[in-house]
Amino acid sequence: MKIEGREYRTIWFENNVIKIIDQTKLPHQFIIKELKTIKDAINAIKVMEVRGAPLIGGTAAYGLALAVQENNDSEFIEKSAKDLIQSRPTAINLNWAVDRMMKKLSGINSDQILDIALNEAKEICDEDEKFCENIGINGLKIIEEIYNKKKDTVNILTHCNAGWLATINWGTATSPIYHAHKKGIPVHVWVDETRPRNQGANLTSYELNEEEIPNTIIADNTGGILMQRGEVDMCIVGTDRTLSNGDVCNKIGTYLKALAAHDNNVPFYVALPSSTIDWDTKYAKDIPIEERNSEELSHIEGIDENNKIKKILIYPNKSKAMNLAFDVTPAKYVTGLITERGIAEASFDGLKKLFK
Ligand code: MRU
Repeated sequence: MKIEGREYRTIWFENNVIKIIDQTKLPHQFIIKELKTIKDAINAIKVMEVRGAPLIGGTAAYGLALAVQENNDSEFIEKSAKDLIQSRPTAINLNWAVDRMMKKLSGINSDQILDIALNEAKEICDEDEKFCENIGINGLKIIEEIYNKKKDTVNILTHCNAGWLATINWGTATSPIYHAHKKGIPVHVWVDETRPRNQGANLTSYELNEEEIPNTIIADNTGGILMQRGEVDMCIVGTDRTLSNGDVCNKIGTYLKALAAHDNNVPFYVALPSSTIDWDTKYAKDIPIEERNSEELSHIEGIDENNKIKKILIYPNKSKAMNLAFDVTPAKYVTGLITERGIAEASFDGLKKLFK
């Protein structure tokens, strides 16, 4: 998608380094950062220079290629894979990408191992781009249906950033929105700010602006009243891990939006590529929920009058704070799962029909 009119993907490999858009600097600075070692890749995931489940997976895949480039000894590669998996615990795409890379590399110790690693990482990223595009084509039908009934702007609420910046391109939740916009359907997006890191305000609103899609940032607690007033036609969110029973783990606050949507008969859709489905974990309580540094809550970053990025304390300095990064929305509150193969009911049978 576009930034200042120029097409980008979120990650690419060039001249032996990974190139990423440093998302900790957006929206105030657009910086392309180079990751030269596996350590750089792990750090980029941990500090969220790259974030969003599919992009974390893509970075892990290229990160392993960097490990191979540094030292193609199998012990080093295995240790790198383990360190990558521990860098962020909730998004299942990370384990999925590392497993896929390790399967591809197992038993190979020829001169070709680096090429094989790079090709597989590129394939993982290309596939994600294609899947997200298909999610858009499938999700477009829902937006079209609403528009055909309403004959007026379709208001869509989204949480966090499940946009193209969270994937390789297109996004998951935003892909149907981009497709609708390209087709000339009038859409307007309510963007949850998404405290504490403000991915909605800093990233979703930013990328929608760049594509000229009308959007309004709202505080995280505003969605409920907008739904009561009939000002939300549908919700679409992304997910970091969806269980095979249809339970959806996503950015903290998603669950409360789903409850409000249920109470107000607003359709609540979740968009995801199949790499985000966790077929192994049975129960929501077994999903590892990342708890991040409480400084993300107590401090806030912005730009001052001299165009300098500044971080300031906003809480009483003696207060304790707790920063759980994700929650789980039970399948019963999910209207449907928009995937690259079609729209599934949020249930084992629903997913099984699409993914035999
Ligand atoms: O903590 P983040 O910014 O990595 O969380 C991102 C989300 O929760 C997204 O909704 C999810 O990864 C889906 S991205 C297409």
